[in-house]
Amino acid sequence: MTPTVVEHLEGVALPQEPAGERACRAPYSGEYSHLGKPAGHRLPQGTTEGCNPHGLPRVEFRKRTNMPLEIDLSQKIVVVTGASSGMGAEIAVTVARAGAAVIIVGRDESRLKLTRDAVLSVGGRCAEVLVDLNLPDAPTAVVRAALDNFGGLTTVVHSAAVFASGPAIKSSVDELTRLLEVNVRAPYALTVAALPHLRASTGASVIFIGSVSGGKGFPDVAGYSSSKGALESLVRSLAVEEGPHGIRVACVVSGTVRTPMTGPRFADPGFERRATARVPLGRLGEVSDIAPAVAFLASDLACYVTGVSFPVDGGVLAG
Ligand SMILES: NC(=O)c1ccc[n+]([C@@H]2O[C@H](COP(=O)([O-])OP(=O)(O)OC[C@H]3O[C@@H](n4cnc5c(N)ncnc54)[C@H](OP(=O)(O)O)[C@@H]3O)[C@@H](O)[C@H]2O)c1
Repeated sequence: MTPTVVEHLEGVALPQEPAGERACRAPYSGEYSHLGKPAGHRLPQGTTEGCNPHGLPRVEFRKRTNMPLEIDLSQKIVVVTGASSGMGAEIAVTVARAGAAVIIVGRDESRLKLTRDAVLSVGGRCAEVLVDLNLPDAPTAVVRAALDNFGGLTTVVHSAAVFASGPAIKSSVDELTRLLEVNVRAPYALTVAALPHLRASTGASVIFIGSVSGGKGFPDVAGYSSSKGALESLVRSLAVEEGPHGIRVACVVSGTVRTPMTGPRFADPGFERRATARVPLGRLGEVSDIAPAVAFLASDLACYVTGVSFPVDGGVLAG
């Protein structure tokens, strides 16, 4: 049975589920009525066909403009840093699956090649840049790879970062410097180098990967959380500055995900339990939870979204 298509269900109160035979609660009549029957008709006990559990017709929401609700990145040329590992690797494959040409950036040659193979295996187009993003020439090398291989640049996704944990009282200022250099200075420098080319393209965006620790206090991550909080401020300023030039800027704020970055934390037997207990949706995140949010923000479906921090955290920041 094809679900009934309605434009919206605003103002419809969900009825209690009565026992036994019950009246259909479909709020519409005529062409919108449940299974073509008038509102209020009797549903036999156990009927589920065409209904949701509330006795309402199953619905799908259709955009009034008939715009296809599918993420199409076929016009995008996307740089993904940190593509040799964890989320960056997943993001590279996901945007490639949506049709983007991808420039994957990392330092570890063998792992970057694994990402390249994964991108090619989904039919993607891929160029690699093996570089330490802290080096002064790195931003130019990355931008040049996009221009040389694909003739332009529409999108930059900053996933590369380093992590450190431990109480602030035992930390060194040099450690903070390292965190800020990789997590803030390097993406800032790459963004600055990319801006002229992003301005010259249409549908451009810059997407950072933030952390719940950038917006909420957690123990033992003072330096890392400072770097991630800085990114969210950067996003707001850049969005205001670059919006008039057609560039959107956003931050996907990730909850805890098991990756090589967080792997050592899972060695603590209580870590997973404590981290999961903070998540209203009851489980830790996966890289496949984060990557689609990045793909959406990079797409023209998000063309009116900028300056935002978009939590993909199972509800941690809502608590
Ligand atoms: N995992 C989580 O729970 C979590 C939670 C919130 C936010 N995040 C954020 O999500 C993003 C991805 O993290 P992840 O968990 O996927 O970490 P990951 O698996 O450790 O990956 C980090 C990536 O950053 C790259 N990188 C680090 N320093 C670099 C440098 N100087 N130059 C070039 N590349 C460099 C690494 O490249 P090489 O391996 O090639 O050196 C690697 O590809 C990060 O921004 C992280 O802060 C993660």
